[in-house]
Amino acid sequence: MEAAAQFFVESQDVVYGPEAIEAQYEYRTTRVSREGGVLKVHPTTTRFTFRTVWQVPRLGVMLVGWGGNNGSTLTAAVLANRLRLSWATRSGRKEANYYGSLTQAGTVSLGLDAEGQEVFVPFSALLPMVAPNDLVFDGWDILSLNLAEAMRRAKVLDWELQEQLWPHMEALQPRPSVYIPDFIAANQSTRADNLIPGSRTQQLEQIRKDIPDFWSSAGLDKVIVLWTANTERFCEVVPGLNDTAENLLRTIELGLEVSPSTLFAIASILEGCTFLNGSPQNTLVPGALELACQHRVFVGGDDFKSGQTKVKSVLVDFLISSGLKTMSIVSYNHLGNNDGQNLLAPLQFRSKEVSKSNVVDDMVQSNPVLYMPGEEPDHCYVPYMGDSKRALDEYTSEIMLGGTNTLVLHNTCEDSLLAAPIMLDLALLTELCQRVSFCTDADPEPQTFHPVLFLLSFLFKALLVPARQPGDQCDFPPAQLHREHPQGLRGAPATEPHAPGA
Ligand SMILES: NC(=O)c1ccc[n+]([C@@H]2O[C@H](COP(=O)([O-])OP(=O)(O)OC[C@H]3O[C@@H](n4cnc5c(N)ncnc54)[C@H](O)[C@@H]3O)[C@@H](O)[C@H]2O)c1
Repeated sequence: MEAAAQFFVESQDVVYGPEAIEAQYEYRTTRVSREGGVLKVHPTTTRFTFRTVWQVPRLGVMLVGWGGNNGSTLTAAVLANRLRLSWATRSGRKEANYYGSLTQAGTVSLGLDAEGQEVFVPFSALLPMVAPNDLVFDGWDILSLNLAEAMRRAKVLDWELQEQLWPHMEALQPRPSVYIPDFIAANQSTRADNLIPGSRTQQLEQIRKDIPDFWSSAGLDKVIVLWTANTERFCEVVPGLNDTAENLLRTIELGLEVSPSTLFAIASILEGCTFLNGSPQNTLVPGALELACQHRVFVGGDDFKSGQTKVKSVLVDFLISSGLKTMSIVSYNHLGNNDGQNLLAPLQFRSKEVSKSNVVDDMVQSNPVLYMPGEEPDHCYVPYMGDSKRALDEYTSEIMLGGTNTLVLHNTCEDSLLAAPIMLDLALLTELCQRVSFCTDADPEPQTFHPVLFLLSFLFKALLVPARQPGDQCDFPPAQLHREHPQGLRGAPATEPHAPGA
């Protein structure tokens, strides 16, 4: 890889201005129509101009569930990198790094040099991005432990690293949060000692005050809110209750059913801050999505795509595209952290189960040769309390003439050390998207990405996508960026297929 991370595209299609990079990019796709039983394919080309502002802001991230394993681990990781910490382990000295982060540890191929060698640069060199070490954290938790105590309770990091981080994390105190017992498992009730009192309206108002309070006290330019609290049960979408923005806001006023995560989403949207949902439940009910669209605020979700599901989305893509008829995916995992305990409750577990099976659906639908309408592989997912996370997945596919092919994977990992870099990428990529605008030759009016930021598909299991209108011919233009590569934003043509699983 090149030592110099900086690169410039020498092309009349790219202009490096004092404030922004302007890149012309041709997006080629095809539109398909059905005429008398025949499929007609129409190649189309759209010419985009992307404008990416250079100036990187001072970014704050507010984590809901800050005192949990993910929240404390991400905070610790950024501090450990910022302080350049190293610590002794039984297998030698380790240094802080950002392994597992697409933006910090991933690379991109720019093309071939004169010797025919492929030239790679770090992903983070593609466009001006916030440096992770500069992130500022704050957040909420229903548990009052400070971040040092939370890190100790999480038992994720080596002891010597914890000792070095302790003085830096001790002063970090989660703000009180909203606890509605019905939404998370009953076994969580003992930790709920740091709560915002009052009616739903008063709770919403308090969250809305917390955001600008952090913003101004930390001297920030931007704040992103990320839900990494416990998995909630699904919320029923009921006409009149949460189906429109107006109804949802009235529901809060009347004190009717709304989940804590939806309250946080609404507060973020009303404060003009992006809200991202790292858990599987349907936080972003239609009313919340409508509110985000009305306020032109980004929202994204659902559920961090970390271990088992990341592999599943790649493997199922590979199997079904190869013509193998995958008949069953049996997943088992046990983990002993608080997330696992919360998932022991059937309603919360159901949210996770739906999210985990979601990654397979697109691939099944892509192959009508193998799957009749309504046909799909079986899923089985069994939680069990252990200590660290163990995941077993068995993929059985039907092969020629009645044979079967079974692949078995075993995965052992510290769950939060997989999730934390994903949370980091979500914040950095979302912030980057906020600095991008685009127009097309046909529509020269500059616009921003759709408020439902599905460009984040690589990082979420059950991707939230904008509702399609009947007859809508527009693949939301930059949707393909995650397929073609963010290089498009810099005018460099895509040289590599998109990262697997995107
Ligand atoms: N670790 C992973 O690899 C991974 C992957 C995908 C999704 N997730 C999801 O991320 C979430 C967090 O995982 P974790 O391992 O950090 O769990 P955790 O139980 O350690 O942390 C969750 C924290 O949320 C707090 N909390 C619960 N309800 C709250 C509320 N209403 N407001 C504020 N705080 C609240 C809890 O007190 C706890 O500190 C879970 O929903 C999990 O399913 C994790």
